[in-house]
This record gives sequence, C-alpha cells and structure tokens, in this order.
Amino acid sequence: MTKSIDQADPLRRLEEMEARAELAGGQARIDKHHAAGKLTARERIAALLDEGSFVELDKFVTHRCADFGMQEQKVLGDGVVTGHGTVDGRPVCVFAQDFTVFGGSLSGAYAQKICKVMDLATKIGCPVIGLNDSGGARIQEGVESLAGYADIFLRNVLSSGVVPQLSAILGPCAGGAVYSPAITDFILMVDRTSYMFITGPEVIKTVTHEEVTKEQLGGASTHASRSGVAHFIEDDELACIARLRELLGYMPGNNSEDPPRRPTSDPADRADAALDTMVPLESQKQYDIKSIINAVVDDGRFTEVHKDYAKNIVCGFARFDGRPAGIIANQPKHLAGCLDIDASIKAARFVRFCDCFNIPLVTFVDVPGFLPGTNQEYGGIIKHGAKLLYAFAEATVPKITVITRKAYGGAYDVMSSKHIRGDVNVSYPAAEIAVMGPDGAVNIIFKSELDKIEGEAARAEARARFTDEYRERFANPYKAASLGYIDEIIRPRDTRWTIIRSLRVLGNKRASNLPRKHGNIPL
Ligand code: HXC
Repeated sequence: MTKSIDQADPLRRLEEMEARAELAGGQARIDKHHAAGKLTARERIAALLDEGSFVELDKFVTHRCADFGMQEQKVLGDGVVTGHGTVDGRPVCVFAQDFTVFGGSLSGAYAQKICKVMDLATKIGCPVIGLNDSGGARIQEGVESLAGYADIFLRNVLSSGVVPQLSAILGPCAGGAVYSPAITDFILMVDRTSYMFITGPEVIKTVTHEEVTKEQLGGASTHASRSGVAHFIEDDELACIARLRELLGYMPGNNSEDPPRRPTSDPADRADAALDTMVPLESQKQYDIKSIINAVVDDGRFTEVHKDYAKNIVCGFARFDGRPAGIIANQPKHLAGCLDIDASIKAARFVRFCDCFNIPLVTFVDVPGFLPGTNQEYGGIIKHGAKLLYAFAEATVPKITVITRKAYGGAYDVMSSKHIRGDVNVSYPAAEIAVMGPDGAVNIIFKSELDKIEGEAARAEARARFTDEYRERFANPYKAASLGYIDEIIRPRDTRWTIIRSLRVLGNKRASNLPRKHGNIPL
C-alpha cells in the first residue's frame, strides 16, 4: 500500500488536520453565518483575547455518535472551540460554540471539551467565558447530550463564587441550555441576533395559544429590560466582546485574589463644588443619582449593570483611586428611588457577586422606602426585599455608605446601614433619616390633635407647624449621628475623597461569617 502524504510528512499532516478543524462546518456555512452578521467562533475568540495568546485544546476531538448516519459526519473539534489565553495579560479560559457545525448543538464529546476548560479554570483560578451560539441538545445524541449539559451545569454551580463566569449570547440559546448561562455571573446579549427562551414560540402557541415572535419572547431587549435575565445588551458582537474585556478588568481571577488595581491620574482628593448643589433640598424633587456617581469615580467612568432593568436602583462597577468597587445607588429619577421586587433582586445579586470576589461596596442612599401596592405584596416583596437585606448583611467586603438625602423606614436598614455591618456610614448635611417622611408621620402621630381642630384652614396651618417640627427634630442626620449610626456628616464636595480615604483604611479589613454549610437566603 502506498503511504499517504500525511503519513510520510507528519508536519504536513498536522497542518492539514488543523486546517480542516479550522474550516469547521465548511466555507458555505461560514459564508452563511457571516451573511447573518455573525462572527465565527474563532473570530470571536480572536477578538476577545490578547493577540496571539490563545492556546486551543481538543482541536481534534470528534463526536462518538453512530446513529442517523452520524458516523459519516465527523467534524474535527465537534462544534466548540475551547482553550485558554489572556485578556490584558491576565489568564482566562474560554469556549466558543460553533454554529457552523450541527448548528452548534451539544454532543457528549463537545460537553467534555467545555468541562475540561471549566475544570482548568477552577484549578488555576481564572475566569471562564462562554460564547454561546447553539441549537441546543444535539438531537441525534439523545440522552448523552442531556448528560453533557448536566455535567456543565454542575461545574457552573461548583465554580460559582470561586472563579468569575461570564456568558455572551451570540445566537440561539434555548431549552434547558439556558441554564448554564443563567447560573453564571453575567449574561451579555447582542441586539437582534441573540435570543434565549425555555420554550419557543411554536410550543407556546400550542400550549397557551399566545402568539409571540422569537424576538419579543426572548430577544436581547426583552431580557435586558423586562425579564432581567440579561445584564447587558450590546449593538453588535464586537461591542459585546469589548464589554466582556471591560468587565474582566474589574474582577480578580478568583475568590482568593483582590481585584486588579489600575493606575489613574484622577486625584484622590479631588473636591467637586458642583456636588454641593446636585441634590435638591426639596425632598420630593427628582435628580439623577448617576450624576453624583460620575462626579466621584475615577475619570467619570462607570460601567452600569442591568442599565435598562429596575431603573429605580443603579448598580455597576467603577474605580476609586484605581481600585475597583461595586456601586449600588437608589435612583430618585425612577419610582422616587423606592425599593421594589425587581430592584431588590437586581441589587442583591450584584452585592453577592461583589462579595464573592472581594470587590468593595459603595452604596448611595436616597430611598423613601419600599414601594407600596398589592402588586408588590402579592408578588412577594417581603421575601424579595429580604434578599437585599440578606446580601448586604452577609457581605464581608469593605462597605461604605453615603446617604445623600432620604433614608426612611426599613429601606434605611437594608441599604448597607451601620446595623448590618456598614464599615463607614456618612451622610450629606441635608439628609433625612427617620422612620418615615414628615407628611406621613404627622398624619399618624398628630392625628388626634389634628382631628380636634375645627376649620380646614386652621387644620392646614397646624399640620404645617407639626410637619416643620417633625422635620426639625427627626428629618435630618443629626439624630442618627448622635447615636453613632452615622460616622460623619460630610460636605458633598468631599464625597470622592471620603470614599477613597475609607477604602484605604479598609484595605486590610478582615471579617468573616461563622462556618456553615451555606446560608438560606430567601429565594
Ligand atoms: C442537531 C442541529 C440542531 C440540533 C440545528 N441543527 N439544531 N443539529 N441538533 N439541536 C443543524 C441543522 O440541522 C442544520 O444543519 C444546522 O444545524 C443549522 O440549522 P438551521 O435550522 O439551518 O439554522 P437556522 O435556520 O438558523 O435555525 C437555527 C435553529 C434551528 C433555530 C437553532 O436549527 C432549530 O430550531 N434547531 C432545533 C433546536 C432544538 O429544538 N434543539 C433541541 C432543544 S431541546 P445543516 O446540515 O443543514 O447545516 C434542548 C434540551 C436541552 O436543547 C436540555 C438541557 C438540559
């Protein structure tokens, strides 16, 4: 038998094998993929990682299925590109599903490739990034594919809070396949080219007779603004990949490292006189809490998480003096900054992420309380609001709280108050810290006196007097300061320096919770 060229020339054979693997599902499918405005798995990895840093693993793995003629259809790599590389010089593990191979569908061998890089990530302590674009379980493989998913889910759970896990959804992600991204720390979606749902429009039509498009059901804007499943929505794939890189810059490689510090030329003690008038004195008047955040963080750079979801609370990452921090802030511009179900869940998850990964928390408080209403009560605001309380209370990272205006009722306690281990709690001089606002309080505590007064005008005059009296005595920060619940009343212009100074003091903070299997957060 004549030797094939490959056998005669091992290097040539390797090159040919690599070229075949890189052609994946073939040029025609790649062209179709490009025509749909999508990058291939390898192009995505190249955009994500530092140039030349990618080390591919398992490039020649193939599936093991012999049913439905599959033995004749083996593609080197089997529909997922896996390996490791660096982002800004720091190691990451990555897998990219390749839609050109069986629609990116997951086989047993493919799942093993993903599990291998996930195991590597936990072993070496680096983030895992999943670039998802898949038709789900490989139908020809049946239960072997389902087993593969479960193997991945298990690893998602076991590495949660150990290494950061980020998921970009860059195409379909449906059925049980959604649960791997759902367990990861952040989900990013691309507008109009990605979707996620448990059951698609056809099944929904059959079962509930509802008519809905794929985009309406599980498109990026649905998940970014309505369900809250997606933390980021990006215009295109390159923007999505750039966002992944940006996010990684705020995170340590694992839970035993500190987040990376980045040099800044923004002076730590930069005072900003504009802050003195940014919060209106009138307690009902709106303002944008983001203008305060932008004014105090390094170089005005704030990466907002869940920007379009539960806008009454703002969460995101920024740096102070080069140190990453997680910011949580009530937003008076939406629902007057009330805490509701969505806001509580959104912020609780963010707080817990930061606490897992040693990222200090900076909390800005301007909250009139929890949102009243039957919708909220029937929806379980009690258990959902408790999540935020639980998350702040269990967090052991440095916690700095700035009360800019209102801190009323239970929401005062919840928003990283001194009583749940706030390390540094300060307030602006015009802050109001009390059980409730003056109007509500007067109606209750002066009710019998008001009832006795005859005549509308006289009653209004008395009400105004009682309200002023209440405001004078309780709607200010001095009572809380006299009890030591507020460490310091600061001039707003000094907010940045106060936060940075506090972060420096707390740099070596040591705190831990009692050993236990795990807490029982109200889910
Ligand atoms: C095997 C699949 C596949 C799958 C797609 N393909 N999905 N092969 N298993 N799940 C193949 C197609 O046969 C086709 O092969 C190629 O991928 C591209 O698919 P198209 O249909 O041509 O692409 P498009 O029109 O863009 O539609 C994409 C799609 C659609 C919406 C994803 O393919 C689709 O609905 N696929 C089935 C999805 C599904 O029901 N998956 C199982 C869900 S259950 P050729 O050779 O023509 O290129 C599940 C359970 C997970 O996932 C549970 C985990 C616990």
